Amino acid sequence: MKSTVPEYFKDRIAAYTARIDDRLETALPSATTSPKRLHDAMRYAVLNGGKRVRPLLVYAAGECLGVDKTLLDAPAASIELIHAFSLVHDDLPAMDDDDLRRGKPTVHRQYDEATAILAADALQPLAFSVLANIDGAPVDAAIRLVRLISHACGSTGMTGGQSIDLAAEGNVLSCSELEHMYSLKTGALIHAAIVAPGLLCDDLSAEKSAALDHFGRVIGIAFQIKDDLLDIEGETEVIGKPAGSDASLNKATYPALFGLEASRRRCDELLVSALRNLQPFGNSAAPLEWLARYIVERGQ
Ligand code: IPE
Ligand code: IPE
Ligand code: MG
Ligand code: MG
Ligand code: MG
Repeated sequence: MKSTVPEYFKDRIAAYTARIDDRLETALPSATTSPKRLHDAMRYAVLNGGKRVRPLLVYAAGECLGVDKTLLDAPAASIELIHAFSLVHDDLPAMDDDDLRRGKPTVHRQYDEATAILAADALQPLAFSVLANIDGAPVDAAIRLVRLISHACGSTGMTGGQSIDLAAEGNVLSCSELEHMYSLKTGALIHAAIVAPGLLCDDLSAEKSAALDHFGRVIGIAFQIKDDLLDIEGETEVIGKPAGSDASLNKATYPALFGLEASRRRCDELLVSALRNLQPFGNSAAPLEWLARYIVERGQ
């Protein structure tokens, strides 16, 4: 991650990143399992880099609530698998038609369109099978996680947001329409990552539950506004995806509709609002605070 990581967080972020990479590696079928090309493409889609922000949010929110790390692995891996599937579809010619992702050819470029569609198709049920195999959690907690994550991924979550995003190309949206789209296409999975650990707690207070809920909602919107800013201000070599892609598709984005300055201001407002909600957690929220700042300050 970026150089602004304070010294004392470097090790913790590195450990969580290694941990999720290991869990993802274990969850994915090996590249020698038939059908090999499909499994190879699934592994490429998931293991080809990525900041792992959503799993890191799961572990950080888990720290706030004192949830055992081993219980967090399944929701963290599940959400990252769904995120990876969403990126494969997002890059397809029928959607954003992008050739570069995480500094490498997109899955349909590296393989072919049919393989990319099928690899994403297979990543989605894999995500739910990881949840179904969660170790050590009561069955009702596992069911609550399936309910949360399926909703976040479905037609009133990420997939619905992607549909609104495509329909909005070339259109003028109000700020609330745009933020509604962001809260679905990007916010839903980020919110799910932050509230998932609460579903593994028996004694979560209503105050803490509401605080994490609000934190998750606002930081998800900020994440997408920052992504839009990076599409304009970032360099392809740094962001690992084609800079200027949004403008070339006439995407309805915060900076396109309201300007760079208003976008930066909105990110800052959302960050302040997010951080206010961490107060009930005291020092245990330090990793979540760091991640919130990272989301609006990151360079990729
Ligand atoms: C990119 O997400 C897609 C959006 C929701 C904006 P990330 O910026 O988290 O992508 P990776 O996983 O780090 O590549
Ligand atoms: C995508 O938003 C959100 C997803 C659900 C994948 P973008 O289309 O802006 O994401 P990037 O910029 O291609 O990563
Ligand atoms: Mg898109
Ligand atoms: Mg895209
Ligand atoms: Mg983008």
